[in-house]
Amino acid sequence: MKKPIVFSGAQPTGQLTLGNYLGALRQWTAMQADHDCIFCVVDLHALTVRQDPVLFRERILDLAALFLACGIDPEKSTIFIQSHVPAHAELAWLLSTFTMMGELDRMTQFKDKARSHAQNVNAGLFTYPVLMAADILLYGTHKVPVGEDQKQHLELSRDVAVRFNGLHGPVFVVPEPLVTGGGAARIKDLQEPTKKMSKTAEADLAKVMILDEPTAILKKFKKAVTDGLGVIQDDETNQPGVVNLLNIWRAAKGATMEEALAHFSHNQYGRLKVETGEAVIALLEPIRNRFTELRSDPAELEGILARGADQAMVRAEAMMQRVLTALGLPLNGRRFVSQAGRS
Ligand code: TYM
Repeated sequence: MKKPIVFSGAQPTGQLTLGNYLGALRQWTAMQADHDCIFCVVDLHALTVRQDPVLFRERILDLAALFLACGIDPEKSTIFIQSHVPAHAELAWLLSTFTMMGELDRMTQFKDKARSHAQNVNAGLFTYPVLMAADILLYGTHKVPVGEDQKQHLELSRDVAVRFNGLHGPVFVVPEPLVTGGGAARIKDLQEPTKKMSKTAEADLAKVMILDEPTAILKKFKKAVTDGLGVIQDDETNQPGVVNLLNIWRAAKGATMEEALAHFSHNQYGRLKVETGEAVIALLEPIRNRFTELRSDPAELEGILARGADQAMVRAEAMMQRVLTALGLPLNGRRFVSQAGRS
């Protein structure tokens, strides 16, 4: 029996946070055993905000190394860089003709980003979810493990697939979102715990990065914003900071909310903060060590990514040929290059 196909990606915009790890990457690694997984560094998406080319190149490789350090195994899964497989951009164009302006206009992430990048509200920022739909639909993806913030984009991918299939026959698989439970799907900012923890947040104390040193992690948790109520309970509305710490602790420990509440029944915020920090340090330390090893061997990393791109390209081309045929675009004369030009 064929394994279900999984696709997911992350943007190389700054380092990944604990939120990215708990909400997405940890789940990715767990799915490798019984799924056909494809994981992508979505560098084209990251161009919707301005990037410094020299730094950007390093960040793309950093993110690929981090995928591996988190446990993505290139022997089991396909791992590659989006811009290495031109079919992503090609399919995004075709799908943009099946996506309505009104649908894109409703995307909350576009509205947020248009506000935070008011100087540069480019068309790519608007059509970003179409490229994301292309990423997913290109591989006949069944399941897409993501954090909660990506659910709306996933819904759009489904709508576009259904619309295309309705007009041109069953070309695309309609993908299902897979959002982790246990409070890990939306890890909050440590300083403003009503907002998601975002890698682009300005305040250093707001976010824990996967590669942070243990001392920095502990400091950030000690300074996490809580409240003046003095009880540790599961009350998201009145105590978002406390609930966030409980969610992080239990995600790191693999515990339920009941277990967390029993463990912290002493109601001491100081101990909650320190123990959460310590649990996160234990979780992230092996990843940081492996990352340093991987980044010291660029040839090995580039080899893995080149192999991943080749695997992805072959699969993507098979889908492109079906899409082009369904649309009436001629395949005769189409040149497909895989492996060629690689040294
Ligand atoms: P990105 O790079 O912002 O985030 C990568 C993954 O991390 C999840 N995530 C979180 N989960 C829990 N708590 C948080 N605070 C938190 N912050 C981020 C995100 O939901 C995501 O799963 N558009 C996507 C990248 C993308 C993609 C795709 C994903 C492009 N094409 C196709 C899936 C399939 C993004 O910006 O993720």
